[in-house]
Amino acid sequence: MNKAMLDEVAEKLQTNEVCAGMAQLFNGLQDLRLSNQADVWQKMVETDLRPHVLAELLQLDPMTHRSFLKPRGYAGDAVLLDMVYGHPAFSKKNVPGLGREIYEYIFAGQAGRAVRYRRHIIADAIDDVASRKTRPCVMSLACGHLREAELSEALQGGHLGRFLALDQDERSLQIVHHNYSQLGVSAKHISVRDILKKKIRSERFDLIYSSGLYDYLPLKTAKVLTRRLFDLLHTEGRLLITNFLPVIEAIGYMECFMDWYLIHRDEVEMMALVADIPRNLIKRIELFVEKQENIVFLQIQKDGSAIRK
Ligand SMILES: C[S@@+](CC[C@H](N)C(=O)[O-])C[C@H]1O[C@@H](n2cnc3c(N)ncnc32)[C@H](O)[C@@H]1O
Repeated sequence: MNKAMLDEVAEKLQTNEVCAGMAQLFNGLQDLRLSNQADVWQKMVETDLRPHVLAELLQLDPMTHRSFLKPRGYAGDAVLLDMVYGHPAFSKKNVPGLGREIYEYIFAGQAGRAVRYRRHIIADAIDDVASRKTRPCVMSLACGHLREAELSEALQGGHLGRFLALDQDERSLQIVHHNYSQLGVSAKHISVRDILKKKIRSERFDLIYSSGLYDYLPLKTAKVLTRRLFDLLHTEGRLLITNFLPVIEAIGYMECFMDWYLIHRDEVEMMALVADIPRNLIKRIELFVEKQENIVFLQIQKDGSAIRK
């Protein structure tokens, strides 16, 4: 049954029916992924799906190719995110024929749109903190290329205090430094592990956010990190974190043909991340989902009377 579907999709991709073929593939893989146990799905991926000739056609898409290849050692690096954003650093003009059509299909899909909304939501959060406090201090953890910097009026207008952009990937930080240091952004090579080891201890922030990181963190690490980031907030400060939801259209395609496995969380699982923070230190918790219903956002505000850690 899998083979028949893949044969049909491969045929469509080669006969100018790319959208129909990709839609059939995304739906088919989502069904297979969500209706099978993880080990059964994984076996299917390895023995039936990836060995099919269709995989070679899909590798013509630069996002699928980069994710599968992992030149930085992990899927979803900032160069790939630039492709998802349609950022000018990535030129789709250089992608020929079928690869370009597959790219356009994936770009226009729900997950791609959700990631672009996420960028806007983060930029709005930066602007919001700047509207409530003079020269607020902001931290972005796992900043990638920090592309939300280009959408934030407060950052562009020089209305922020310290802006600390942290990532484990030196090459992404070079881009951040090159593009945004003149706006006052400090790019620093600091990982989640460093944060947990309290490498940052004396500074406090009005906004700390992390987009596209929690999708890689197991529960235990995610909970401890959330507590640690919360401790780094000023009173009234906000922590904003994001995660992909479990039931999303792209899940089967991402895992199978991009070899891009995320840790998906629903709203209840997001709430579990705040379990280690004493309730009396929290002023407000907000959970919301963006328009495509692919990404959930958790925002926690520190209580004004909370004791500084
Ligand atoms: C999907 S990208 C998101 C980038 C950016 N925040 C965005 O929304 O476009 C994930 C980023 O997390 C970073 N990352 C992953 N694990 C990390 C860790 N343990 N410590 C610091 N950064 C990490 C990667 O280097 C990468 O830049």
